[in-house]
Amino acid sequence: MLYEALKPWLFTRDAERVHEEMSGLMALAAPIPGSRQILSLLTGAAGQNLEKTVFGVKFPNPIGLAAGFDKDGKLISILPGLGFGFLEIGSVTLEPQSGNIKPRLFRLVEQGAILNRMGFNSEGARAVALRLSMSPPPSVPLGINMGLNKGTAASDAPKAYAQTFRLLAKHGDYFVVNVSSPNTPGLRDLQTAADLARILEALQGANSGRKPILVKLSPDLADGDLADCVGVAGTLAQGFVISNTTVSREGVPEPFNTEAGGLSGVPLRARATELVRKVRALTTLPIIGVGGISTPADVRERLDAGADLVQLYTGLVYGGPSTVKRLTRDLASA
Ligand SMILES: Cc1cc2nc3c(=O)[nH]c(=O)nc-3n(C[C@H](O)[C@H](O)[C@H](O)COP(=O)(O)O)c2cc1C
Repeated sequence: MLYEALKPWLFTRDAERVHEEMSGLMALAAPIPGSRQILSLLTGAAGQNLEKTVFGVKFPNPIGLAAGFDKDGKLISILPGLGFGFLEIGSVTLEPQSGNIKPRLFRLVEQGAILNRMGFNSEGARAVALRLSMSPPPSVPLGINMGLNKGTAASDAPKAYAQTFRLLAKHGDYFVVNVSSPNTPGLRDLQTAADLARILEALQGANSGRKPILVKLSPDLADGDLADCVGVAGTLAQGFVISNTTVSREGVPEPFNTEAGGLSGVPLRARATELVRKVRALTTLPIIGVGGISTPADVRERLDAGADLVQLYTGLVYGGPSTVKRLTRDLASA
């Protein structure tokens, strides 16, 4: 209710600034004892009895926060108060970097979409590892999404991902290799059988704790490349996150149709669902479905398409802080 009242005003303001202010407020509240419980009370009742074990990890419910919202893991103690069954932080890069120049985050309100070209603003793996080592583990499973610094050569990618993983390995319940962000030049070119195999071999070589390692794919992959990636991941990874943002501008009005970046939210939904279906037809490995999920019907559709878990980001921006609770209640009553 309150969010609906505030939204028209919030949406007149710069999107990244609002995100920083909201995150800043939550980060301030996080260390206060009981803050997660208070946030939970304010956002309503959650659906019950939705536990699910996927890739050996027990999730209290199947709806998680997608990567990009809490890039540096500053909010992991408080975000479960919104009802998430798991959180995915990142993308974390090996070295700190500031990302692209601003503005780099845009709302397309009529489309229920977001266009972003953040470019992996990250405090870097060492700083994030330090923060995680000083915070109690969150009350829900934690995924850590790993990206590459701008300018890392393709030949250095396996080493960079493995180093990032080593620094963070003990803090995450699962890990994601992000080879699908459209905002780091060359990154998506790593979605080939040979490159992906080298990256996953390096990661599994560093994975003495046998943490689940998932591959996050682009919705813009050609069918042949998709089959190659799924084939390689079938032997070297434990699952998929499907999908990242799209570079397609279908249905996107001016002036955003010519802006660089990745599109998320409602215009991505059908494409991301279709990709889950395609991957499900190729593998039995677990899939986290993400892209354009905002209603209970979206959650059901994605699970029916073959996803084991789902995530959202853009749906939270438009639906507000009670979104996840609404979705879990519906799922529990089905
Ligand atoms: C502002 C923003 C930043 C994002 N940053 C990342 C990121 O760093 N790493 C990543 O794997 N995905 C990132 N994503 C993509 C989301 O994790 C997700 O795959 C995509 O937004 C589709 O889901 P949605 O429609 O629910 O937002 C980002 C998305 C947005 C909107």
